[in-house]
Amino acid sequence: MKYGYFDDAAREYVITRPDTPLPWINYLGSDGFFSLISNTCGGYSFYKDAKLRRITRFRYNNVPHDDGGRCFYICDGDAVWSPAFLPARTELDSSLCRHGMGYSVFEGWKNGVGAELTVTVPLHTDMEVQKLVLKNESGEEKRLTVYGVTEFCLWNSVDDSTNFQRNWNIGEVEIEGSAVYHKTEYRERRDHYSFYSVNAPISGFDTDRDTFLGRFNGWSGPDAVKKRVSFQSVASGWAPIAALRLDIALAPGESRALIFRLGYVENEYEKKFAAPGIINKEKARALMARFETEAQFDAAMDELKAHWDALLSRFTVESGDKKLDRMVNIWNQYQCMVTFNMSRSASYYESGTGRGMGFRDSCQDLLGFVHLIPERARERIIDIASIQFEDGSTYHQYQPLTKRGNADVGSGFNDDPLWLIACTCAYVRETGDFAILDHPTPFNNEKGSEAPLMEHLRRSLNYTMTHRGPHGLPLIGRADWNDCLNLNCFSTTPGENFQTCSNYESGRAESVFIAGMFVKYGREFAALCERLGLADEAERALASADEIERAVLEYGWDGEWFKRAYDAFGRPVGSSENEEGRIYVEPQGFCVMAGIGGADHGKRALASAEKYLGNDYGIEVLSPCYKEYHDYLGEISSYPPGYKENGSVFCHNNPWITLAYCKLKDGNGAFRLYTRNAPAYIEDKSEIHRTEPYCYSQTIAGRAARNYGEAKNSWLTGTAAWSFAAVSQGILGIRPEFDGLTVDPCLPDHMEGFRVTRLFRGTRYEISVTRGENKGMKVDGKPVSGNTAPLTEAALCRVELVI
Ligand code: GLC
Ligand code: GLC
Repeated sequence: MKYGYFDDAAREYVITRPDTPLPWINYLGSDGFFSLISNTCGGYSFYKDAKLRRITRFRYNNVPHDDGGRCFYICDGDAVWSPAFLPARTELDSSLCRHGMGYSVFEGWKNGVGAELTVTVPLHTDMEVQKLVLKNESGEEKRLTVYGVTEFCLWNSVDDSTNFQRNWNIGEVEIEGSAVYHKTEYRERRDHYSFYSVNAPISGFDTDRDTFLGRFNGWSGPDAVKKRVSFQSVASGWAPIAALRLDIALAPGESRALIFRLGYVENEYEKKFAAPGIINKEKARALMARFETEAQFDAAMDELKAHWDALLSRFTVESGDKKLDRMVNIWNQYQCMVTFNMSRSASYYESGTGRGMGFRDSCQDLLGFVHLIPERARERIIDIASIQFEDGSTYHQYQPLTKRGNADVGSGFNDDPLWLIACTCAYVRETGDFAILDHPTPFNNEKGSEAPLMEHLRRSLNYTMTHRGPHGLPLIGRADWNDCLNLNCFSTTPGENFQTCSNYESGRAESVFIAGMFVKYGREFAALCERLGLADEAERALASADEIERAVLEYGWDGEWFKRAYDAFGRPVGSSENEEGRIYVEPQGFCVMAGIGGADHGKRALASAEKYLGNDYGIEVLSPCYKEYHDYLGEISSYPPGYKENGSVFCHNNPWITLAYCKLKDGNGAFRLYTRNAPAYIEDKSEIHRTEPYCYSQTIAGRAARNYGEAKNSWLTGTAAWSFAAVSQGILGIRPEFDGLTVDPCLPDHMEGFRVTRLFRGTRYEISVTRGENKGMKVDGKPVSGNTAPLTEAALCRVELVI
């Protein structure tokens, strides 16, 4: 069943009822100020760092899950309601939520009064702006009391929800006109404050939460709202809020727009105060002045739309398949931008208080946004490479505010270094910016240690080659892509982190997956060397790749599929010799993409993956699932069967299999798998899938799970980038190369062809692919040999391919 529908022309998902199976969220913001917003107006805002600069509160583990985000109350006679249903929870006569590109709209109607709330974070603006339009279509005069309320977080979101002995003493606000300024800790070391205001005179305010709510009330029925009053409370400690009240009369047919603004300001140290103890509000006033009128707001919405038009016009397809088009043209690319902004930090599943930026995650995310924002991709690569160590290993994570490696987690995830090659090669193919390879890039952020980025790639390869086990396969370390396959950690203490507890470096635990990666990216590195004229180095890299390939064929092939690993005792993992975990998905994907063993091994590996791991929603991680915990395998066996790494469809790796099908030129196989979990194709199973039907989730519970088919952890997943790579480069086959754009589709039989517009190196390539007799490619009307359109200075290049 569905809870809404796609409006492709508007690039929106329209949710037609508030009781979606889970909060269905959207992301606002693209520079520094970010907001999460659910279909009932829940969520929270932060500036750059969801842990350290949290602007509004969010209660993890709260019931209901999504209460107390943006609170609007409309009091009309006896009725009190909210445009987005929550928090008032009054049943509306009708309601809608439209999630669009960087904004969300909520429309609620009750007793002839309409409220249309549009929420966005305008471009280049550290502020969430909420336009509330009230309409009276009841035929009689309405006297409304309207409240807009926000609850401030005392900045550090972890401290905010733990350190009450301090925090219940420090809350401070200032109130001026129609604005409440939240200035907790500003008196001492902070140089930032936030504010919430409205563009009209208010009738009253509250800034102390408990006064506003009253004892025993939640957000659904605050005392002030029940009484239609404000208590003019001034927060002093406890929980500062901004509750702005407006008494409004609307004649029949009249409408009125209010603009609420939740902003964030940083002041220079010398300019913190306007008078002793009084914050300098200049910047806040300037921000508010930009959103005083409806026209200003609407202009910002137009700008936002133009921004997304421009971004999304860089890759568009018309395939005749509506679902494919909406994934490719809208939602998959949108999700890629979200993962660029958020990495794995802030969602309804990632609390924003834990992980920083993952090394491997960030490298892979880049595959999905490099064509959209190449300049920012460049900066990201340098940031990532700067946490690598001199020996080629690397910190596993870094903090976005400091860009320093995260010492708590440390290093030892042996796949990490190779992802740097993957993303750098992808970047150079996309942009032709070979100069990045000369960029002086430090090791471990140490001044004076700078070496060209190219040297970092070299050390990545070298690290794998010099860290190999008894079968000549790469050592796994704490884990490889599968964070939960911890072959050297042996954790037996409850609560301990499975990956970082210890790392025995047995010198034996090996990963066939890393071997597959090495062969694939080692060869990509060799191609890069060749292109740079480094023939000897290219040859050495190829020889290394060949050597690892031989090791895989000898020790990593199980007969019908690729093995997964060898454990610390030299026993195989993911082999027919095992009782559980006999086959894993990851090496089937990567070894086949790398071409190891050619079509013969490839076909058998994919057939086995489908046979043992295939379900209605994709390919599961492993089978049979582990039923007991094994300390020599680690976290993977800690999950109940069918969940997470223990046998769910871990969506991130499914596109590897799709790409593996493409490698074997099996268009039907590729498309079949792609459509099994691409959100638009499973929209009508929303009651089973439960997460948003417009974005990928990390996992879908496998057959062994009680809740088979249920997804979790939506939005922040490498699935976004890899799915876009699979569909755009695999199925549609549009692949950037160093010296041109290759068009090499791998279509299912039923698809006749497609048109793609692709911006590449400043040229708009208009590509048409059809089936026909006269096979071959024409570029601007002239036949060319092969299927790569060359680079050109022209603004437009027409490519026709007959397959
Ligand atoms: C999570 C991690 C990612 C890892 C994956 C599989 O998505 O962010 O780094 O590869 O899980 O364990
Ligand atoms: C857990 C999760 C895994 C994730 C890791 C990140 O192990 O199961 O998916 O990659 O945490 O820290």
